[in-house]
Amino acid sequence: MDKRIAIVFGTRPEIIKFSSIIKHCQEKEIPFFTIHTGQHYSHEMDKIFFEQLQLPEPDFQLSVKSSAAFMQGEHTGKMMEGIEKIILKERPSDVLVEGDTNTVLAGSLVTAKVATVQQLVSFKPRLGHVEACLRSYDKSMPEEMNRVISDHLSDFLFAPTENAKQNALKENLSEKKIFVTGNTVVDALQLMEKQIEKNNAVQKLGLKEGEFALFTLHRQENVDVKERLQSILQGVAQFAKKTGIQVIWPVHPRARKMLGKFSIPVPKEIRQEKPLGFLEFLQLEKNAALVLTDSGGVQEESCILKVPCLTLRENTERPETVEIGANKVAGWKAGAIASAANEMLSKKANWKQPFGNGKAGEKIVDIVLKH
Ligand code: UD1
Ligand code: UDP
Repeated sequence: MDKRIAIVFGTRPEIIKFSSIIKHCQEKEIPFFTIHTGQHYSHEMDKIFFEQLQLPEPDFQLSVKSSAAFMQGEHTGKMMEGIEKIILKERPSDVLVEGDTNTVLAGSLVTAKVATVQQLVSFKPRLGHVEACLRSYDKSMPEEMNRVISDHLSDFLFAPTENAKQNALKENLSEKKIFVTGNTVVDALQLMEKQIEKNNAVQKLGLKEGEFALFTLHRQENVDVKERLQSILQGVAQFAKKTGIQVIWPVHPRARKMLGKFSIPVPKEIRQEKPLGFLEFLQLEKNAALVLTDSGGVQEESCILKVPCLTLRENTERPETVEIGANKVAGWKAGAIASAANEMLSKKANWKQPFGNGKAGEKIVDIVLKH
């Protein structure tokens, strides 16, 4: 069967982390097509990344906007319906998904189900999970559920680190399927390196290098629970007050929605901004004194950019960052956040990042082509 790769994505981090794979396919003239589920759709969560990373327009756009948080079955189901039609018509040899979103779950389930009816449809797509085998061991998170299911359905597990590979082996996933590739986020940062240098977002926002903290928050378990959202904001504000460090918060649409729903005022110590483009965000991240976040990708990037990070969750599926001293898991209680932020602020960035050499995308495509 001739190779033709389907690349399925739908959210901000997936667009970013698929960028090097898409570019490698273009450069080497490897047949591929892209499916955008439309999970993220606002310009600053979607189009801006295509523009800045110079990615081709998606070949298929499903426009399945995310629905209410308590309707994730409907959300995933609609995406599955759209993806299935395209897979059956286009008959790719391989389908790639990236990360742990509902888009990943939909793409993985459809691919695995089509493979079970190979006799009827006369082809069998293989599933490759990029950034596979991460585990928080917290099944209350939708992301953990999505990752576990996708990993157990996949033919290729592209684990970013050796630690991730060990997680998969503990679940008796076949070693033959696991490839330690590094994380494609390193590729994306290298791709943008020169442009980050030239970007002047720090100056434009009236900030001074190394004198501000960058804050992001969007995870369901944090922003959809009033007590937690309030407590995190208080903790971050306490830290800002005590240290005099200005905190910049590009507010994710989900957090924006929940602030309104709960009528929670944002403390004056936290300066709100709209979600930033990748370049602007990376410029801020690189020049921040501290990063405070519940994002997965931001934990990785701050580690790579040598800026200490505080994770505003009870656990992390990126424990490598904690082990090398780049990250600390602070939970959601205000007091714990304020004191851990203080501690991390004085952290010396002398760690070696564990996410690879920027060739993950290339390795992943080569593995798919070779097997
Ligand atoms: C999703 C992923 C999460 C990932 C995050 C990246 C799931 C279960 N969650 O969370 O793992 O870390 O993306 O940012 O897949 N909204 C907009 N415009 C947009 C996108 C979202 O206004 O472009 C608002 C909508 O009100 C929407 C809400 O944000 O209902 C939540 O969006 P959704 O995609 O369901 O979840 P995220 O929190 O973005
Ligand atoms: N990001 C961005 N602008 C922002 C906030 C984040 O470009 O205002 C980028 C960030 O550089 C990282 C990615 O978005 O690459 C992380 O996505 P997010 O935090 O939404 O999701 P997660 O990684 O938690 O799944």
